Amino acid sequence: MSLKYIDRRGMDSVKWDGMWSKYGSDELLPLWIADMDFECADCIRDALSDYAKNVPLGYAMPPDDYYDAFIEWESKYHGYDVKREWICFSPGVVSGFYWSVLMLTKPGDGVITLTPVYYPMLNAVKDNDRKLIMCDLVRSGMDYSIDFERFEQDIVENGVKLFIFCSPANPVGRIWTAEEIKKLMEICEKHGVYVVSDEIHQDFEWEDHKHIPTATLGDYDSFLITMTSASKSFNIAAAQNSIIIIPDDELRARYKDFQNRIHVSSGNAFGYVAAAAAYRKGREWLEEVKAQIWSNYEYVKAQLAERAPEIEVGSLQGTYLLWLGLNKYFQTQEEVSDFCENRCGLAFDYGSWFGGDRFAPFVRMNLSTSRENIEEAVNKMADGLTAMEAERAEAARLEAEAAAAAAESEKADPDRKKPVLVIMAAGMGSRYGGLKQIDQIGSNGEIIIDFTLYDAWKAGFETAICIIKKEIEEDFKALMERGAAKHMNILYAYQDMTDIPAGIQIPEGRVKPWGTGHAILAARNIIDAPFAVVNADDYYGPGAFKTIYDYLSHAKDGDKYDYCMVAYQVENTLSEHGSVARGVCTMDDQGHLKKIDERTKIQWNGDKIQFTEDDGASWTDVPVGTPVSMNLFGFTPSIITELKARLPENIYRILRENPLKGEFYIPIVTSELIQEGKADVKVLHSPDKWYGVTYKEDRQLVVDAMLNKKKEGIYPDRLWD
Ligand SMILES: Cc1ncc(COP(=O)(O)O)c(C=O)c1O
Repeated sequence: MSLKYIDRRGMDSVKWDGMWSKYGSDELLPLWIADMDFECADCIRDALSDYAKNVPLGYAMPPDDYYDAFIEWESKYHGYDVKREWICFSPGVVSGFYWSVLMLTKPGDGVITLTPVYYPMLNAVKDNDRKLIMCDLVRSGMDYSIDFERFEQDIVENGVKLFIFCSPANPVGRIWTAEEIKKLMEICEKHGVYVVSDEIHQDFEWEDHKHIPTATLGDYDSFLITMTSASKSFNIAAAQNSIIIIPDDELRARYKDFQNRIHVSSGNAFGYVAAAAAYRKGREWLEEVKAQIWSNYEYVKAQLAERAPEIEVGSLQGTYLLWLGLNKYFQTQEEVSDFCENRCGLAFDYGSWFGGDRFAPFVRMNLSTSRENIEEAVNKMADGLTAMEAERAEAARLEAEAAAAAAESEKADPDRKKPVLVIMAAGMGSRYGGLKQIDQIGSNGEIIIDFTLYDAWKAGFETAICIIKKEIEEDFKALMERGAAKHMNILYAYQDMTDIPAGIQIPEGRVKPWGTGHAILAARNIIDAPFAVVNADDYYGPGAFKTIYDYLSHAKDGDKYDYCMVAYQVENTLSEHGSVARGVCTMDDQGHLKKIDERTKIQWNGDKIQFTEDDGASWTDVPVGTPVSMNLFGFTPSIITELKARLPENIYRILRENPLKGEFYIPIVTSELIQEGKADVKVLHSPDKWYGVTYKEDRQLVVDAMLNKKKEGIYPDRLWD
């Protein structure tokens, strides 16, 4: 017998023909999903074709030989003596653990896994609204072990009812020792936790590692279900036949009762026939496949050690799935997938699929294919890394050149201060209700300011000044300490309504602060550099911070003040839930701002964008594409002097015109300075969509947008870790 490689393209194989849905391309060399590119064992092909030729396809029972063959296999190769009546059916092991989640737990119950782990286990928990507990394995190089203390603590703290155990472990390739398995089982027994032991990879044992069925290590019957299948060992996943072993009568009765309710209790005849033939006569074929897999592994290990020694290669004890660490080169899944797919043309399972972004720098490579495919993959990775490193070296050289040039220009202007970011976070959030500035809209508790600060930090800002109200100081500082303050210098200034020129009386009933012009003055004593100013409750997107940082790095007042602002296209800035205030910009032909018209009520009316100045009695069109200000300005410190000088007259104006609600707006001052010929304001552009929380209903939009941006790799899962 000799192993025959099959080109499976065009055979409706998920691995080859289903690549598009996962990778958006069908041109990659697939080394992902765990099946094999070899022709099935002759014994299986013969049994299936005999059955198809000779047996009418009427309703069928599982053949006796199916049970006997499996029982003999399990006893002979794994020392597990299974009784026939313990064996239940499921089409796939994955269905088996989905059903177990439904059968053994209630919504909200904790289900624990040892991560990184085969991702359908995580989905089984999430898809059924159970609480997923991921107890990370401890990594030392590419060796993984279990933190038993943490495992027990996680169980206790999270009301865990079920442990889905992957043994041998996919993707890290561990074969667990008897000691490890026993310890896990002891903990589960102690805390009344059911265990599903997925042993589908049981037949792939390497060197002197020996898979030990969990059930053989103690009397765990009352809380253990073992799952396995011939599908992995003999590459017959399409036959949809898996073996669920439940020795305990009561537990088995529950399983069967569950199956009655969903009316799935046995599989199709071909699945039984294929599995029986495999267990009965397939050993020789399996040994051949294993020899091929092991030699592929040794090849990958040796070649990568020589040609790409920085790639960490998993030590394969079990499975045919190789865990590769690319952490010396990449951090995010976006970087990894860009390298693997775009540069190398390879489709791997990505580390983050197995439990989140902390595994992003890893990939899982399927070794069960031809040597030619494995060689091609190794060549592409090694060549890809060489090319990438050359490009990185070139980029580093250019960066060093740019840094040297910047240092030169700093020498020429030694007093030049680096731009800082000023965040106005003292608004009341009256329309939204509550302290919108500290609403946690990110998937890991981030507030909008976290995204703003992250973008600013990435753009080069090292210092941020947050203008807040004294009342929220404690909460606000705690949020900063948790994240941004780990990377940036965060300073605070406090906006206080009573901080106005002496002699001016605050009108009774006024609770609103005096507006953005007044807010900036709260930081007058700490602003000593060019600065960008933003609203706390607006999301601006990374591009804006890059352009404004670059501009401010060179901004210098001459005959005129040298200011700038980032404009957005009006349609990218509106709320679906009501009107908003926007500064509509007009520019001269050099791209300098001519004026800003503050429109306090601007909104979509059908497919038109319009504003009103008379509470909706009349509406004026604003064309799509019109640049508007989102209060993202860049100033030199000269603006402070101007704001100070203009504050008294503006407060008097407010007292006259609208004593309770009137405000002293930055755009108004900026417009005045332009009119007076004192300032040039360069308009920079952002094509990004702006997000903000003007209305409570806007919140979900922002939450979804930020989650998507994380998924797209624009942000890491945890911004500040
Ligand atoms: C650990 C593990 N369990 C289960 C499965 C799939 O099981 P089935 O195809 O029987 O649903 C796989 C396939 O890769 C696996 O690795």
